[in-house]
Amino acid sequence: MTLLSHSLVKAAIFDLDGVIVDTAKYHYLAWKRLAQEFSINLTHEDNEKLKGVSRMDSLDIILAMGNVSLSQQEKEKLADKKNTWFMDYVNQISPSEILPGAKELLMALRDQGIKISLGSSSKNAKTVLRLLNIEHLFDAIADGTMITKSKPDPEIFFIAANLLQTKPEHCVVFEDAEAGVEAALAAGMFCVGIGSYTSLHKAHQVVPTLENFEFKLNAIQPA
Ligand code: BG6
Ligand code: MG
Repeated sequence: MTLLSHSLVKAAIFDLDGVIVDTAKYHYLAWKRLAQEFSINLTHEDNEKLKGVSRMDSLDIILAMGNVSLSQQEKEKLADKKNTWFMDYVNQISPSEILPGAKELLMALRDQGIKISLGSSSKNAKTVLRLLNIEHLFDAIADGTMITKSKPDPEIFFIAANLLQTKPEHCVVFEDAEAGVEAALAAGMFCVGIGSYTSLHKAHQVVPTLENFEFKLNAIQPA
């Protein structure tokens, strides 16, 4: 595995859902079920717009698709319902759902002295990390409980960089969501997109998975 040996990179920030663990599919299933209650057919393509986006912002996007207008109280009830369904899946997860290469990369970066933070919009992030038994691999955790604006706003990544006491230009972000790539770039960080080039092409480097991850040193742009 080629590591982040470039002197500019001092810290790595990982998104959670879809980067470290295969929970993005559970968010999708839960949102799809909720959307069906309003006769909205949520497709995989629609779902790309929800990735990385906070629970309430995701709900607003779905309701707008069906031209549904609800009170804040009604929306909160729906968001809670979706979260209950999501947690029903999450409570069954095991370390076998850690995505290929993710744990190996976390451990290799640690060995190299690179500091690591989570940078997730999820309010369930700590629970998920605990269930996967990988909390100890993180020096800091920035999650959905700490932000006022969700990705594509860079707030979550600035919080993570602050927790690691590292300047944004010395951070690399690993992201599977278009909104997350935009957030990383807005933060002035280097960004590796994990997934399809079509949706993540704005990232500095795109790889299909973290398995045998090779960092392209020539892709890094000096800040
Ligand atoms: C992100 C997911 O990590 O967290 C989004 O990509 C999700 O799909 C968001 O909406 C918020 O998650 P939670 O667990 O707080 O509902
Ligand atoms: Mg994600």
